[in-house]
Amino acid sequence: MNGKNVLAIRTLDKGVIQQLVDIAGDLKREVLTNGWAPRARRRTIGLLFFENSTRTRVSFEQAANYLGYTTVNFSGSGSSLSKGETLKDTILTLKHERLEALVIRHSSSGAANLAAEYFGGPVINAGDGLHEHPTQALGDALTILERKGTLTGLKIAIVGDVNHSRVARSNAWLLSKLGNEVRFIGPRTLVPTHSSFLPASTHLDLRSGLAGADVVMCLRLQRERMEDGMLSSVGEYTRLYQVNRTTIRAAASEAIVMHPGPLNRGVEIDDFTADGPQSAILDQVTNGIFVRMAAMQWIFESDQVEVLA
Ligand code: CP
Repeated sequence: MNGKNVLAIRTLDKGVIQQLVDIAGDLKREVLTNGWAPRARRRTIGLLFFENSTRTRVSFEQAANYLGYTTVNFSGSGSSLSKGETLKDTILTLKHERLEALVIRHSSSGAANLAAEYFGGPVINAGDGLHEHPTQALGDALTILERKGTLTGLKIAIVGDVNHSRVARSNAWLLSKLGNEVRFIGPRTLVPTHSSFLPASTHLDLRSGLAGADVVMCLRLQRERMEDGMLSSVGEYTRLYQVNRTTIRAAASEAIVMHPGPLNRGVEIDDFTADGPQSAILDQVTNGIFVRMAAMQWIFESDQVEVLA
């Protein structure tokens, strides 16, 4: 079986990243403008969501639908994990249920790598703990390319709870690999302040970090992953770091605003900015479908989807 995986942007070749974004753009044009009727080899893909999800889960399902694949949905609750079965034995069981690829979301960093080790076939990481969310970053890259006309030479400001964000990590790797300047902005407790090996500079002041930014990427305050004392108060965080109709003026006048979702409206972003013309948030959602199609097609490299005229 093919063992190609999409586990992390950090380890993905720059050429493959560009190829996946290009394929996603082509697939999007085909689906949205031409009559889309795939003729792919039949495949059965397991969608394993051990953590909650709306956007990622639905877009993988939708991507599989467009490609003509069959999906098997699996969530931790209601499974034999509740009887003490390990993740390793769960993965081995699914392999012997003859699933041909896995998509996995899990709260533990490294769970997707473990799945790849025991599954032995293609695995796509749909977000693992604090590690990475590679297909989110690929979708964000397609969105930036569409809105800014380029994927290089841009100033990217990633604002908020960076330390708990797998999206921030995947985006920092992807956007720096493609030749952009990446800045993390947030309070000392939520951004890397010592050598993190992540390819980004750190800014504790919102306005100076946003100065001249072409892309402003807001992050959700992940209170469920925070230890007590990381924030003095949500109110203070909002006062100092919210991206809103006033603070966005520090960025470039044509800056776009992004957010991977789900949003804490009124905390990291205000309604005006989330819903205004600069917002690319719903484009990110739609593009998630097409990069996931591209990723699935890539892991089954022989599955060149043919479009019927
Ligand atoms: N961006 C993202 O991963 O959203 P979901 O948690 O809804 O999938």
